[in-house]
Amino acid sequence: MAASSLLLTAFFAVSFLNVLASFANAGMVSPTVAVAQFLAAHNGPRQAVGVPPLTWNTTLAQFAKSYAAQRRGDCALVHSPGYAYGENIFWGQGRRWPIPNAVAKWSDERSRYHYDTNSCDQGADCTHYTQMVWRTTESMGCAKIICRNGDTFIVCEYYPPGNYIGARPY
Ligand SMILES: *[C@@H]1O[C@H](CO)[C@@H](O)[C@H](O)[C@H]1NC(C)=O
Repeated sequence: MAASSLLLTAFFAVSFLNVLASFANAGMVSPTVAVAQFLAAHNGPRQAVGVPPLTWNTTLAQFAKSYAAQRRGDCALVHSPGYAYGENIFWGQGRRWPIPNAVAKWSDERSRYHYDTNSCDQGADCTHYTQMVWRTTESMGCAKIICRNGDTFIVCEYYPPGNYIGARPY
């Protein structure tokens, strides 16, 4: 092999490794692994309160993906218009937000939810959690992106939606 093509091969090998390394740094995983992580991060807390697991819904995942793309420029913690589905959104500074860690920010609200009075701690939000464990929600689809400013944005859509005023999640 000529020296130039050896160099070229080495160059591509190093570039490929750099791409892999930046994926790892960003906590990026393959789409299949991402789906499994989103499901596990929801179905663990659901199982804990005795409600059936959610399934992955590609219609919702597509909606989540296109909405996330609209937030790429500003990474703003803003809900999608229209209220078609239940929706949880997440913003995290920087790119090191593995899916399980980010979704845990929602499920951690469990400690601020009071089942007896069906309310959150005063001044606290626990509605990400109540949507996650809403009994009659059957399926979900989520998307995670790194915004243009390098921060992380995640959105999950839920169908049928939860968080009906006055109703308990389970
Ligand atoms: C997926 O979501 C769509 C859109 O809301 C809904 O019509 C459909 O029934 C859902 N499919 C499953 C399997 O839950």
